[in-house]
Amino acid sequence: MAAEVISGKQVAAEIREELKKKVEELKQKGITPGLGVVLVGEDPASVSYVTSKAKGCEEIGLFEETVRLPEDAPEEDVLKEIDRMNNDPKYSGILVQLPLPDHISVEKVISYISPAKDVDGFHPVNQGRLLRGEPCPLPCTPHGVQQLLVRSGNDPSGKHVVVMGRSNIVGKPLAAILMQKAKGANAVVTVVHTGAKDIPYFTKQADIVVAAMGKPQALTADMITEGAVVVDVGVNRIPDSSKKSGFRLVGDVDYDSVAEKASFITPVPGGVGPMTVTMLLYNTVEAAESLGT
Ligand code: GUN
Repeated sequence: MAAEVISGKQVAAEIREELKKKVEELKQKGITPGLGVVLVGEDPASVSYVTSKAKGCEEIGLFEETVRLPEDAPEEDVLKEIDRMNNDPKYSGILVQLPLPDHISVEKVISYISPAKDVDGFHPVNQGRLLRGEPCPLPCTPHGVQQLLVRSGNDPSGKHVVVMGRSNIVGKPLAAILMQKAKGANAVVTVVHTGAKDIPYFTKQADIVVAAMGKPQALTADMITEGAVVVDVGVNRIPDSSKKSGFRLVGDVDYDSVAEKASFITPVPGGVGPMTVTMLLYNTVEAAESLGT
């Protein structure tokens, strides 16, 4: 039986409607949530992400400002921008688009952002809070994955979730979120990665598989059990001469084969992607509410 497609576009639109109302309420109290973005260099994927973040802000009525710095900008210039945004109440949230050029320390830059304005949830203080189960901004992509599951009727509570990939941006925080004793979580979580000797041994035992290892179409139908729920976090550009751009986007899931065996599946594009930006908007609105500015 073919899997039901979980539309990230649809779920994202639903959450954005909720946020729009919240923003209107905040504005009536004199609070206008705002997002400050810092982009260093011209990486096309980063430019495209930053553009969709700005559009998302506009759509729900948030103030947004993107500061663009040249590829060779010194680290100090990035820190200066963060310092300015940390101290200006019009920015409820601050985001530095990653990756950064090699001469800039990601750790230093991320740690410089005020934890209260860290809408990516990447600051070490917020990562610590997440592990401890304390209130904190949740990293956007894993939070989006959780929302897709819950809002498609696939609450992870009591389920075995296998997360493929252990990145600081997706795999690790997703495992931390889903294992919490909390609503929409409470799952048994296994994390598999390149150190695993037999990845299919684990993925075949999963009720829910989240593919976030960054390998195009690597999760195939033989690796899952019949009826599993499959979430694809991968965004890979592969050459395609039939496209004007010369490439097409594929996920980390071999969609055609897996869709035949899974009960639910997220597409690429149109799955997790729109959710990441939406959860960033969510964190910005939440930050504004907490800061009260
Ligand atoms: N680059 C890729 N994903 C992300 C993200 O979620 N946040 C930031 N700041 N940069 C990214």
